[in-house]
Amino acid sequence: MPAEFRTIIEPFRIHSVEPLRITTPEERHAAIVAAGYNLFNLHADDVLIDLLTDSGTGAMSRDQWAAVQHGDESYAGSPSWYLFLDAVQDLFPFSHVIPTHQGRAAEKILFSAIGGPGKIVPNNTHFDNTRANVEYTRAEAVDLVIAEGRQPSIEHPFKGNMDLAALETLLAERSADVPVVFVTVTNNSGGGQPVSMENLRGVRALCDRHDVPLFLDACRFAENAWFVHTREPGYVDRSIPDIVREMASLADGMTMSAKKDPLANIGGWLAMHDDALAERCRNLLILTEGFPTYGGLAGRDLEAIAQGLKECVHPDYLRYRIRSTAYLGEALERAGVPVVKPTGGHAVYLDARALLPHIPPLRYPGQALAVALYETGGIRGCEIGTVMFGLHPDGTEQPAAMDLVRLAIPRRTYTQSHIDYAIEVVTSVAEGAAGLPGYRIVEAPPALRHFTARFEPI
Ligand SMILES: Cc1ncc(COP(=O)(O)O)c(C=O)c1O
Repeated sequence: MPAEFRTIIEPFRIHSVEPLRITTPEERHAAIVAAGYNLFNLHADDVLIDLLTDSGTGAMSRDQWAAVQHGDESYAGSPSWYLFLDAVQDLFPFSHVIPTHQGRAAEKILFSAIGGPGKIVPNNTHFDNTRANVEYTRAEAVDLVIAEGRQPSIEHPFKGNMDLAALETLLAERSADVPVVFVTVTNNSGGGQPVSMENLRGVRALCDRHDVPLFLDACRFAENAWFVHTREPGYVDRSIPDIVREMASLADGMTMSAKKDPLANIGGWLAMHDDALAERCRNLLILTEGFPTYGGLAGRDLEAIAQGLKECVHPDYLRYRIRSTAYLGEALERAGVPVVKPTGGHAVYLDARALLPHIPPLRYPGQALAVALYETGGIRGCEIGTVMFGLHPDGTEQPAAMDLVRLAIPRRTYTQSHIDYAIEVVTSVAEGAAGLPGYRIVEAPPALRHFTARFEPI
């Protein structure tokens, strides 16, 4: 966009629209009561601005829809598979690419192959389903993000960085039990915060020293690369695809959800260099997902992802994407709402523990805030705190490191006036925060309880 003007515009115009249904406070109250105060249980028609997730909720481009039409549904060896493979390997030149229906399927296959009792998997921060997939094999998942990454109000350019000293200690003591070290870019559960290339090189060096493979959970690789480009010395003149390739060159493999940065509504993959591991993973893929040239995907999905991968590394798109997220974060900060700082790539994280000090973590301040945002203005966010992470495999419950509410921004979906509305709603809820109740869980499954638990206000 013209460099002489300050306003960063959406680098697209609207081509087809979806209606939003305006609801009354009474309708929203009835809906949330019926949903057991769990925002995942709502009918999406009852949500006005849906910031539950940036996963699979982005708007596809004209060229992606055209690619969908081009999709070839041959069971084996479809031309769409080869387009997908080329697009993936152009950015992530791993020898083996294994398509899956979404990121967690890639995780399930990988950890089924290399996890198991007695194993331990370090990560900067495991996302909920990644942790669940590690723990499902009875391996242990540990989070080793730097100390700054656990403190919402501290500014740091790369708050997603791994604590290298902690990783070194773990590897020195237990490397034989560590089947893989993971780094999540950007660090979703820790506020969508990026990881620096310097840190990634540090992790690589430790993995080399202890002979342990390094994998990326690369869902938001393009947003991470933009932060590297704009914040890390030495990268301002490097293109985004080039930075992504350098990131990939430091890893032995990756898991991926194409529902995030690749701008698709479904899809994912697992990739690696190790031939023997790839063969084991492909055998599991055939059992659970499908033949290796389509995995869990239709040819048209493979093509939409291939095209999305080209669009998501474009600098005009990334400048708009990161700036529009920061716009929400900065406005809330100006209004005195405690948020994780600096603003992450795909979401703004409200610090519910700071905003609702009268609600103890085990009474779920994040849930309280998320419910209030819905009841007040029809905004659906996502609790990322003690509801999501507080229950441990042995059945005990402890406060999570932070109690956040994530307002995730679907890619290319909402306009600035939608975000201005969200700012008004959040500010209004924050002004009345002292009157919000805590919650108790009245019904919950044994794992991933946040998706289906039912709550009641106390
Ligand atoms: C960091 C991270 N890893 C993995 C996943 C899993 O991806 P999917 O939802 O496609 O299974 C997600 C999804 O939110 C994520 O944010």
